[in-house]
Amino acid sequence: MEEKTIENIQIGDPEQETTLEERVDKLTGDFFGRGKKAELHKGDPDYWKTYGSSIEDYDKSFRAVLEGGHIVDLVRDSNEPVVVDLMSSTEAIASLFGQLSQSNKLGIAVSSEDDRLPDKKRRDDQMGIKHVPGDLSQPASWKTLKETLGGRKANLILERGGMGVQSLPFNENFYGYVFNRLWEIVSEDGGTILIQGSTTHALEQTGIRVKEWVDLLKSNGVDVVLDVGEDDFGFDYTTLKIVKTPESPKKLPLLR
Ligand SMILES: C[S@@+](CC[C@H](N)C(=O)[O-])C[C@H]1O[C@@H](n2cnc3c(N)ncnc32)[C@H](O)[C@@H]1O
Repeated sequence: MEEKTIENIQIGDPEQETTLEERVDKLTGDFFGRGKKAELHKGDPDYWKTYGSSIEDYDKSFRAVLEGGHIVDLVRDSNEPVVVDLMSSTEAIASLFGQLSQSNKLGIAVSSEDDRLPDKKRRDDQMGIKHVPGDLSQPASWKTLKETLGGRKANLILERGGMGVQSLPFNENFYGYVFNRLWEIVSEDGGTILIQGSTTHALEQTGIRVKEWVDLLKSNGVDVVLDVGEDDFGFDYTTLKIVKTPESPKKLPLLR
């Protein structure tokens, strides 16, 4: 199956291209409450409905795919845990690392803005947490993330971008690109990807056939759990847990 590479990927298929504002309108419904029109402030932490969350908040969003477990348990036994949190400040990783006793931990949070004050930067330095400022719709940000990993593989990759997800290109080529990148950086030693996207209905409407893809993964022996329910915050999201093992395919199968 042909990999979607930087060369052949079409980020933002012109057929499906909409403005950020249109995508937010179409996909978030009354996310902002009572039809109030949101002003988009990508770089403003106060703008996001959820920001700087704890790892326990993430547990709530991923409750169904964690099947009774907790995120901290996924890395409790890793020798030198490496955790990546996409579309987030460093707060969730800091709250997770605060519960782990291992040394030589590496945490990397990627988001549009780095709003840390000096005390938070000091805390992150002490805990082994870095922040990569960047736009995940740009290949350069993925390159920086890989460089920051410095050859280490992630035991855990989180993404709970919430409304931030709506700022990303909404087409299957982009998601194919993203999953190829995630598969490259996740450890085959039981590395786990926990990812939250828009509603399955909204994804399917734009040609992103989540359920069919999950079936394809399963038939290729990939350990995957899909949940299309509502999270504890009342938001209807698609959540996925994907685990990579030595038996997993080297390339993540994608739909054509
Ligand atoms: C709703 S907040 C979620 C923060 C965190 N994950 C949490 O649950 O508390 C959305 C985050 O997505 C980030 N974001 C939005 N668009 C982005 C993009 N295109 N690339 C990278 N990060 C983005 C914002 O900087 C913000 O930190």
